[in-house]
Amino acid sequence: MNILDKLLKEKNLTDTEFLQILNTDIYDEELYKIADKVRREVYGDEVYIRGLIEFTNYCKNNCLYCGIRCGNDKAVRYRLTKEEILSCCDEGFYLGFKTFVLQGGEDAYFTDEILCDIISSIKNKYPDCAITLSVGEKDKESYKSYFDAGATRYLLRHETATNEHYKKLHPKNLSLETRKKCLYTLKEIGYQVGAGFMVGSPFQTMENIVADLRFLQDLKPDMIGIGPFLSHKDTPFKNFENGSFYLSLRLLSIIRIMFPYVLLPSTTALGTINENGREMGLKAGANVVMPNLSPERVRKLYMLYDNKISTGEEAAQSKALLEKRVENAGYKVVSLRGDVKR
Ligand code: 5AD
Repeated sequence: MNILDKLLKEKNLTDTEFLQILNTDIYDEELYKIADKVRREVYGDEVYIRGLIEFTNYCKNNCLYCGIRCGNDKAVRYRLTKEEILSCCDEGFYLGFKTFVLQGGEDAYFTDEILCDIISSIKNKYPDCAITLSVGEKDKESYKSYFDAGATRYLLRHETATNEHYKKLHPKNLSLETRKKCLYTLKEIGYQVGAGFMVGSPFQTMENIVADLRFLQDLKPDMIGIGPFLSHKDTPFKNFENGSFYLSLRLLSIIRIMFPYVLLPSTTALGTINENGREMGLKAGANVVMPNLSPERVRKLYMLYDNKISTGEEAAQSKALLEKRVENAGYKVVSLRGDVKR
């Protein structure tokens, strides 16, 4: 059987076969086609939108790739107030968003109490909207309290599923073991969970990527976030090359075919590395976009990597433009919560 037929039929391959697909571009067009067919069978032509609110860029962690690492003293830090976060939601709701994603660094200022108050205030005001959190590693009690306050989805990329690689990307106090434990805890509590990794991060091998796919098979997340690594000038990885755009697309397709039900964003990093990256990501199997709802004044401060786009179509305010682009790609933006279709 042809390797792509096998992938489609069994949603799985041997390590050697995965490497065979990852290491060449000859399958790409066919991969996009199959992935698109699979996504249409599960999600039709619908593209779900999430309003991203980057509410703090303070972070206690010092991840070597990240522009808002605590060791970057050139980063200008900000926090949004509860009122500012709520007005982001007001604007988002008016624009048609039914999911709000609260993303931030690991910022001790936002205690469980403060965060829960923000979550329940949003939930009270917009009971039909979904709240997604992306605030890093916490203990089970904290995760549980956010869930009880009304957050039902959680994004926590595993970054890499290979121990030795994880250590090369992170400071000593962080471990893959803790990361994985957090993800399984989140699932256990009942969250729709998102994991994911960067494509082409420093020291990454194709074998590491296969390990990422294996980990995802074990976790069975509801959402998978991937995008190319992009270097940031004020991090230890400033001299590393950016990840490959085409390898990122290839992986979107492979992931769509392996996990037909998964919510798969065409990420900001993909839109940053290529002008048409977001649309091409959709055509390769992605079905979610996450426009930015943060206030104008802080947009440029949440710089995870150089040149992160923040004012074009990825701004929630330019929803009409985004809709046109999505339409041109052959899909349509819908104003739905967009829960996972298992
Ligand atoms: N390039 C690409 N993605 C990055 N992230 C952080 N720094 C970078 C970078 N330099 C991703 C990480 C993190 C998510 C919020 O952003 O995967 O989980």
